[in-house]
Amino acid sequence: MLDLKGKTAVITGGAGGLGYATALALAREGMTVALWDLNGERAEAKAKALRDLGFTAKGWGLDVTDPSAVREGALAVERELGPVSLLDNNAGIHTPGDFLQTSDADIKRQMEVNINSYYWCAKAFVPGMIARNSGHVVMIASAAGLLGVPGMAVYSASKHAVVGFAESLRMELLRAGTTGVGMTIVCPSFIDTGMFPNTTPPLFTPWLKPETLAGKIVAAVKADRLYVREPGMVKLIPLVKALPRAVGDALCSLTGMDRSLKGPASSKP
Ligand SMILES: NC(=O)c1ccc[n+]([C@@H]2O[C@H](COP(=O)([O-])OP(=O)(O)OC[C@H]3O[C@@H](n4cnc5c(N)ncnc54)[C@H](O)[C@@H]3O)[C@@H](O)[C@H]2O)c1
Repeated sequence: MLDLKGKTAVITGGAGGLGYATALALAREGMTVALWDLNGERAEAKAKALRDLGFTAKGWGLDVTDPSAVREGALAVERELGPVSLLDNNAGIHTPGDFLQTSDADIKRQMEVNINSYYWCAKAFVPGMIARNSGHVVMIASAAGLLGVPGMAVYSASKHAVVGFAESLRMELLRAGTTGVGMTIVCPSFIDTGMFPNTTPPLFTPWLKPETLAGKIVAAVKADRLYVREPGMVKLIPLVKALPRAVGDALCSLTGMDRSLKGPASSKP
């Protein structure tokens, strides 16, 4: 179990809804937090909000899709705040619309932010954790990383990639004898942050509050738990996928999962 007190965390997308809530929860555990975000002004404003509460925090404007910016950013954090013990790969975007209406640029950008940036940040911070045989990586995936969702084809593909990457990296670390670096994969349904406007969550999957989810993430890190799947319905996804296809499709329709995001006609402004 990683002792968080006095250690440093980097949260990508740290100025956003879940990122900031997680930064606050980690700061309450005694961590120094570095907020990385494309929006540098918002990252620094959120860091200031944390400092005003008496915590140690700094914000950086940084595009995590740029591997050299990530490498330089990692050096800057380690220089200013010390070795990084926790990486929260959290930055993410979603482009509304069905797959065939999604532009090539939007497809590339979603993959760049939602999965490639997770590679660059892991490359920047995991070697130091291995050297110290101590650390933890949080990978924010999604319930859409466990089950395909209409209206989220590329987003869902990127989040499935996050799950596969995180599970594989964890096993590579173990195979190399690194027992002190933990991994937590987070698969939430809809969170009330504004990322998915005009959405009706499926039955039995109420909007999650970012603060509540952040608390569960921190608890999972402290307990070195591999998965956070919230709300409880998300834990049933593997069972639904094991059912005959027609039954699974009927359940998706009954719960409204297949209609949670509007189709192409209604998603036009
Ligand atoms: N909101 C949901 O319903 C939901 C559900 C499941 C999973 N998630 C995942 O949770 C994570 C956090 O999302 P959120 O709901 O807090 O959304 P959010 O939009 O509030 O936060 C995302 C943050 O990422 C930042 N970001 C985007 N591109 C970036 C880049 N290239 N470099 C650096 N920062 C960048 C944004 O500026 C923003 O501050 C994402 O990975 C998202 O996919 C969200």
